[in-house]
Amino acid sequence: MNPDSFFAALWKQYTDVTPQAARIHEALESRGETVLNDHVAFRTFNQSPMRLSQLEPQLLAMGYTPLEPYHFPNKHLDAWGYLPAEDRLPKIFLSELRVEALPADCQAIVQSLVEQVPLDFAERKDAFYCGLPWALPSSEDYQRLAEVSEYAAWMSVMGMRANHFTIAVHKLDSFPDLEAVNDFVAKDLALPLNDAGGAIKGGPEVFLAQSSTRADRLNVTFSDDVTIEVPTCFYEFAQRFVTPDGDLYPGFVAASADRIFESTNR
Ligand code: NI
Repeated sequence: MNPDSFFAALWKQYTDVTPQAARIHEALESRGETVLNDHVAFRTFNQSPMRLSQLEPQLLAMGYTPLEPYHFPNKHLDAWGYLPAEDRLPKIFLSELRVEALPADCQAIVQSLVEQVPLDFAERKDAFYCGLPWALPSSEDYQRLAEVSEYAAWMSVMGMRANHFTIAVHKLDSFPDLEAVNDFVAKDLALPLNDAGGAIKGGPEVFLAQSSTRADRLNVTFSDDVTIEVPTCFYEFAQRFVTPDGDLYPGFVAASADRIFESTNR
C-alpha cells in the first residue's frame, strides 16, 4: 500500500476518536507551522492471526525497515521500531502484549476476542486501521482486563488503529523545545498532559525527549448494554537530539515509552 494513503486513512480514523489531536494540529498550523509526524504507534496482541510478526510484512512492503526491539517487562509488552524509506514519512512503533503473561481468566477473555479474527487478517489492506475485528466484550470483561492490563482493555474496545500520532518537535519553527510545546498545549489550549513520570520523558542525555496528552474519552456501550466512558487515543510530542555521530537519534527509549503507554490509563 502507498504510505501516503495509509497515513491519510489512519489520521482520519484517529481524529474521529481523538478530537484534541485535530485541534492541536490546527492550532499549530494557524501559527504558520508545518506539522510533521515523528512516528505513529500501534498496539496488538501476540496472538495469531494478528501478532507483530504477522503484521510486520505490511510495513516492510511499504518500504519500512526494522530498527531494533524494545521490551517492557512490567507491562508484558514487546515492541519493534521501524524506519521509513523516506525521511518525510513517520517512523513506526509496533508493540504487542504477551497474552500468556496475564492471569488465566484474562487470557480466556482475550482468546474469546482473537478467535473471531479471520485467519487472513494480516493480509487485509486495512489491517492496521480496521478498528475492532471482533464484537465488543461485556463491560465486566472490559473492567477485568483493565484491572490487570490497561493495554489489554484498550485493545478490547479500540482494536486496530493508530494509538497515537507524534509531532516532530525538532521540525517546528516557532518552538525552541519540547517544554514550549507543552506550555502551548497545557496552557494556551488547556489540554491536560500525561504527567506519569513527569510531563517530559527522557531528554538530551538519551537524545530523545517525549511528552503526550492524556487520551480523549468516548462512551462505549458494551455487549451487556452497559455504557462506560473509555480512553481512546492521545497525541505525542517528540524532540530528537543530534548524537555524537552527527545525526538525529533514530530510535526509541524504552524507559520513556514505558510511561507514555500510561496515556491511555483510565
Ligand atoms: Ni510514541
